[in-house]
Order: sequence, then structure tokens, then C-alpha cells
Amino acid sequence: MNLNIFTKLSDTAANTLIIPVIKGERPSKHVIGAKIATAIENILPSNKEGKPEIAQAYLQNGQHLLLIPIENTVQPYRTYMKLGKKIGEILKKKSKSTCTLIAFESILKEKKEVNLTTSFIEGLYFGSYQFNNYKKDHTEFEITHLEIIASSVKLKTQLEDKSAVLKTIFNNVFLAKDLVNTPPADLTPEVFAKMIKADQKTNFHVEILDEHALIENDLNLIYTVGKGSENRPYLAKISYQGNPHSDRNIALVGKGVTFDSGGTNLKPSGSIETMKMDMAGAATIYALAKLIRDLQLPINVHTYLPLVENTIGTTAYRPGDILMSAAGKTIEIFNTDAEGRLILADALHEATKTDPEIIIDVATLTGACVVALGSFCAGLFATDTEHLHKMMSISKDVFEDVWPLPLFEEYASRTKGSNADLRNIAKQKGDAGSTVAALFLKEFVGDIPWMHLDIAGPAYTSEPHPLLGTEGTGFGVRLLLNFITSEFIDN
Ligand code: BES
Ligand code: ZN
Ligand code: ZN
Repeated sequence: MNLNIFTKLSDTAANTLIIPVIKGERPSKHVIGAKIATAIENILPSNKEGKPEIAQAYLQNGQHLLLIPIENTVQPYRTYMKLGKKIGEILKKKSKSTCTLIAFESILKEKKEVNLTTSFIEGLYFGSYQFNNYKKDHTEFEITHLEIIASSVKLKTQLEDKSAVLKTIFNNVFLAKDLVNTPPADLTPEVFAKMIKADQKTNFHVEILDEHALIENDLNLIYTVGKGSENRPYLAKISYQGNPHSDRNIALVGKGVTFDSGGTNLKPSGSIETMKMDMAGAATIYALAKLIRDLQLPINVHTYLPLVENTIGTTAYRPGDILMSAAGKTIEIFNTDAEGRLILADALHEATKTDPEIIIDVATLTGACVVALGSFCAGLFATDTEHLHKMMSISKDVFEDVWPLPLFEEYASRTKGSNADLRNIAKQKGDAGSTVAALFLKEFVGDIPWMHLDIAGPAYTSEPHPLLGTEGTGFGVRLLLNFITSEFIDN
């Protein structure tokens, strides 16, 4: 999508005109031009309320006119995001679109920097996403040009700066979505690891540990969970040095189970079909690392992506096995379907080694989190409340909802073993499952501030999310970008 911002509406050649209209009002001719103002008269009903729905019409020259009803006061960002998504979905029915959009700020005569139009564009990106890689007959859709009419030079400059960033953001959000949507036979740990390696650049160093390196480095949990599959396990490590003179750094960890069959504790029909999405945490962190690099953010980031396939078979690990972790703690296996916390335990321990200011992990960890918060909201666990509140507030703005869940010390004993130091599931099955899983992870982060996002719900949705869409959502990329920017970059 090429974006151009103008301060005057001249005769546009775009095939689509998108115009926000305050409910019950007529947009000023000054902003939208006399020709469109006349055309609108024929579409808008005369009643005071205006049309509640998006109104569509075609002008005599064939231009597609879309009128978006808005309130006359500034609404939360998600309102404009949802509108953008709807418009993206309407446009997607065509093969190509060139659009002219009147900035929301211009219509509302809003002088402050409020990000309404940029929120709308975010929605437009999400609404226009398609996953066509496996379809023979399809029309590839693209908004090739978007021109925005801004009423002031100040707004024009703001939109220019932000729209370039949005383009980079959505390249990577779409990468995360594509990876989650890719079938598990085509995105094995090896394919994923090679893809990451191919991305290596000067300040974006990639180290791939194969199964031999996993054994050599005592990353036994990652090795053991992955050893049952012909598709061998890996750990991908990325180091981005955006501020080489500083030793301050952030560690990011993402669960990368390319297919979770449950292993010997095989998942039943109804639960197994979507388990290609169990690498969404790794997809999010990988896309985020690339995004941080593409934006050349002045921070140092280390990412750890354990990549395995959790499969059933004679070489797979079993209930009853006792495994040694990289951290030196032993774990008795009671359920091979609680595999995510095992590979994350080794990855989190590895992440402590650069003495990061914070470790953040993202994982499709527990079905219990979906039961608690549904498929539009992630569970958030944090060792300090300041980070937690910041993440909550950012989550609201970016429309990637998170809600806090507790790390009750009183439940920590449920992760303790009798034959081994730890057990991978609690005896109290079905009781605070997400918290117990998080407490298990906490055993491996030492004293480093830590946040854990359980994205089992929002990583992949069957019911369309009002912004993020259906199936792979890319959840977490924008959320963490904004969190990291606001927490670690002085503005
Ligand atoms: N990958 C699943 C969690 C999951 C469930 C993600 C639904 C997305 C949607 C995870 O590995 C798992 O199977 N967890 C078990 C843990 C249980 C055995 C304690 C679960 O949630 O049932
Ligand atoms: Zn599992
Ligand atoms: Zn899993």
C-alpha cells in the first residue's frame, strides 16, 4: 500500500472515496468538495440520526463512495479500528483498490494529535488481510494506493510519519499471521529455523541450535519434547543490537510447537485440529524481533524460540519420565500434553544469561486460559505490578486485550514433585490451570522481572475477532512493540 497525504482534495482518480460523516450532520463542502457534497445529499437520509451503517454508492464517473457514520466526539481508538476493518473487508471483494480517505481529524475539526486516522488505517490493514497461499483460484487483493486528505500541514506531517511506520508494522503482523496459518507439514521446526537463519543481517545475529547442539548445551527439555518426531527440534536465538554501547537488554521468548498432538496423552478430536497454531508465540516474537530491527529501534533484544513438534510415537517422551532441565531442576512428566512449559523452561533459563532488564514470554500455553478469558483476550502474568498496569493500558489502546491472572505463591507447591524437583502438571487437575503453568515457568526466570502472556485464546480464533480477524491473528506483535517502545525508549 502506497500512502500519500495531501492537504487539498483535488480531482482524485482513486476508484474509492472513503468519507467519515458525523451522524445527523452534513460534512462541510470546504473539506469534501462540492461535487461529493452534492452526491452525498442523495445518499444520506434526511433524519437527524444519519445512517447507522456504512452507506455505499457509485458516482456517475464510477467512483465507489463509502460513507462512514461517526460520533461527533473523539471515541476510543478501537472504534476507528473496527470501522477500518469493515471497510477493508468491503474493499477486499474487489481485486484492486485505490482509495481517497478524508482524515477523521479533519471531519471532527480535531486539532490535537489523536491518532484517529492511523487507527482506521490499522483496521484497514487487518480487514484487507488474506491467506491465499494454498488456493488455486483466488484474486489477490491489494489497496495499491491510499491517499489521505488532511486539513492541516501539521496533521499531514503526523500522518506521513506514522503511516510509514504502520507499513512496516503490518508487514510483520502479516508475517506472524501467515506463519500461524501455514499447515504444520510445511512449517516444521527445521523450516522455521531455516527461515529465521535466512533473515540474518549485520545487527540481527541468528544462532540456530540443532538437536546435537541442544544436547551439548544441556537444553534437554527442548530436545526431549521434540525427539519423538522425524521433524527434529531446534532452538533459534536472535540477537538484535540496536544500542551496541549499552549493556541494557530485553529478553523475549516464544513457544514454538509447530504441531501439538498432545504426544502420548493424545489430544481428542475437537481439540487437535487447530494445533498448528501452537507456534504462535514463536511467530509473534520472531515478527516482533524483525519489526524492532526494521524500525531500527535503539534497544538490545535477545529472543529465544524453542521449535519442536510434539508427536506421538515410540521415540516420544512418556508420562513417568523424569527429565533434567538446563537449569538443573528435574521434572517428572505426568502429561505429555503439558509440553509448552517444558520447552519454555529451558528457553527461559537460557534467557536469564544476558542479565536482561525483563524477560517476556508469549505462549499458547493452556486451554484453561481460553475457558477463563475466551478467544479475544490473553492472560497476563507479571512479577511486578508496574509492568502489568502499563501492559494493560497499552493493550486497551491497541485492541489486543489482556487481563491479569494471579501468580499465587500458595499454588506454587502444586508444581513441586515427589520423585523429582518439579512435576509438569498439578495433582489438582482442572484447578487454576493457567496459574499453575505460569508458576511452573516462574521457577526458571530467577529474580529477573518477568511477564508471561498466555495467548491460547487470541492467537487463533474461529469466531472472527472484531479487529484481528479469523484464524491466525498476529496477536501480540503490536502490543509488545508498543509496550517495549513506551518502557525502554525515551521519547
Ligand atoms: N497447546 C496447548 C494449549 C492450548 C489449548 C492452546 C487450546 C490453544 C488452544 C497446551 O500444550 C496444552 O495442551 N495444555 C494442556 C495442559 C494440561 C495437560 C495441564 C491443556 O491446556 O489442556
Ligand atoms: Zn499440549
Ligand atoms: Zn501446546
